[in-house]
Amino acid sequence: MNLLKIENIQYSYGKNTPFEKEVLKNISLEVNANDFIGVIGHTGSGKSTLIKICNGLLKPDKGQIFYKGENIWKKGFDLKHLRFKVGVSFQYPEHQLFCETVKKDIAYGLVNKGVPEEEQESKIRQVLKIVGLQESYLEKSPFKLSGGEMRKVALAGTMVLEPEVLILDEPTAGLDPKTTKQVYESLKEYQAKTSSSIIVVSHSMEDISEYATRLIALDDGNILLRGTPAQVFSNTERLNDMSLDVPITTSILSMLAQKNPSVNTNIYRYNDTKAEIIRLLKDVKSIE
Ligand SMILES: Nc1ncnc2c1ncn2[C@@H]1O[C@H](COP(=O)(O)OP(=O)(O)O)[C@@H](O)[C@H]1O
Ligand SMILES: [Mg+2]
Repeated sequence: MNLLKIENIQYSYGKNTPFEKEVLKNISLEVNANDFIGVIGHTGSGKSTLIKICNGLLKPDKGQIFYKGENIWKKGFDLKHLRFKVGVSFQYPEHQLFCETVKKDIAYGLVNKGVPEEEQESKIRQVLKIVGLQESYLEKSPFKLSGGEMRKVALAGTMVLEPEVLILDEPTAGLDPKTTKQVYESLKEYQAKTSSSIIVVSHSMEDISEYATRLIALDDGNILLRGTPAQVFSNTERLNDMSLDVPITTSILSMLAQKNPSVNTNIYRYNDTKAEIIRLLKDVKSIE
């Protein structure tokens, strides 16, 4: 059974005011255990609004949302419980750190959730390991950490609640490539340990294509493309119409394919691209 099912969602801001604006037009999406869904779309396409719809922070004007088959807007549904199960990390989550130690910040949600104190410690240590921070960080002030470390602490604070659906809005915005990789690897590790589903909004086609198993591309409140990264990135023209690019790996292969039709352009991951280029070089050598 799917964890989350979104059916024909419509949402407008500023309802019944002169500023009314429909930002989600007709969105349907199913999220299953172990999915790693990448959400792409230019600024203003509705990505962050969709996330808020997913965990019940915004109520759609039309359409329905089911969590494990239950309509989350039916009377009596426990929305607080849902927000522990569908955990969201918003853009720049480090802005929400406020406790005097890393440990207290990560524990904040656990306390809210009513997790007994004796269980908190081991959960905190586990997530700290997943995000790649040493235990010595627990007593440090979050405000004395680097930007990347702060981001990891914030991420740990969301993961520690063990959401079954973990949603992240631009989790690596502003991070250097090394920290970006560490953050994505920690998401993969979290998923491997919990069989959760992960939804990531990203501007980087390279990052998203490296990690996502499915992609949705939003444009002006509609999902215009969906499928595996290979399927979505085979639509170069449509992506360009949406002001989106294919990953640099795919465009390099497309350029090579203009000279050599045997080049496989249906590749987007870094290592696969590397292997294809090595294959081509070997072919060239064997001709010489
Ligand atoms: N709180 C709000 N009130 C009014 N309009 C909003 C609000 N939040 C977002 N919008 C508008 O809704 C549209 C979609 O925004 P958003 O979901 O943030 O898109 P994205 O995350 O893809 O950039 C944009 O035009 C944005 O200006
Ligand atoms: Mg956004």
